[in-house]
Amino acid sequence: VLRDEPKQPVKVLVTGAAGQIGYAIVAMIARGLMLGPDQPVILHMLDLPRAAEALDGVRMELIDAALPLLRGVLATSDEAEAFQGVSVAVLIGGWPRKEGMERKDLIAKNVSIYKSQASALQQHAAPNCKVVLVANPANTNALVLKEFGPSIPAKNITCLTRLDHNRALGQVAEKLNVHVGDVKNAIIWGNHSSTQFPDASHATARTDLGEKPVKQLVADEKWLKEEFVSTVQQRGAAVIKARKQSSSLSAASAACDHVRDWILGTPKGTWVSMGVYSDGSYGVPEGLFYSFPVTCEKGEWSIVQGLQIDDFARSKMEASANELEEEKSIAMNIL
Ligand code: LMR
Repeated sequence: VLRDEPKQPVKVLVTGAAGQIGYAIVAMIARGLMLGPDQPVILHMLDLPRAAEALDGVRMELIDAALPLLRGVLATSDEAEAFQGVSVAVLIGGWPRKEGMERKDLIAKNVSIYKSQASALQQHAAPNCKVVLVANPANTNALVLKEFGPSIPAKNITCLTRLDHNRALGQVAEKLNVHVGDVKNAIIWGNHSSTQFPDASHATARTDLGEKPVKQLVADEKWLKEEFVSTVQQRGAAVIKARKQSSSLSAASAACDHVRDWILGTPKGTWVSMGVYSDGSYGVPEGLFYSFPVTCEKGEWSIVQGLQIDDFARSKMEASANELEEEKSIAMNIL
């Protein structure tokens, strides 16, 4: 009996790897939660020179964890070295927000990082490298990468709204007292900010009576339009208030979910939310990084088409698009 050819290791870059999300995500990646339990990985970890010692400590811990899928670890503060040959780039590096700030208050601090990383990606990453922006403001950082990395295909740049998507599933599961794994097809529209529109109007939940629309099961329109929406919109701020630092394990977990579904595909009948380059679907202006419902197959995402959008949803979706236009002009002025 011939054994299957072992898979070649995939190089995965994590920036900001000495930070809180970085610390959580490298272990998840090295345990196969991002690329699958049979996919060996080589981790490239980047952080600032002043975090070099801490980053080396993370490298030591990864070795000490004796992880069979982990075939190599690079810890560096050199961008060129970090981006060299990577097929997946998880961009977390940047200032996190503190209590009382909006994510867009980070534009001035963070967009310049992504201008410089656009060239590193173009010059050093593998040609079809898949990128997910986690650092805030995530959508606008993705746009900066696109603008300053013209040779990177737009379809390869995405930003993380899976954290909001998972938060939405979590809120519905709590409300209905069902397991979160039985809820699906929530949608996050727009910006990863407090203007995002968490939409449960197409979501379903599995119950003893079969799969039912969440709308019908919750039977509380006011909750779906108000409390649910604001809880998900404000969840990042609520975690910062409670932890005195921004979400880490849930962000790391969501980034793994995002890349896993992108590369390995979404389950049949299920969509997820991803911030992607708008093609004008649902009247969203082209050329913004906007969160849509997507399905993924063979490493490509596509926007779910044909969903009914009522006036309530339309106005929320437009408000978030307007904020993204505004962030775009602030970022471009700075750069
Ligand atoms: C989150 O959503 O938890 C992160 O984007 C951190 C933040 O600033 O809210």
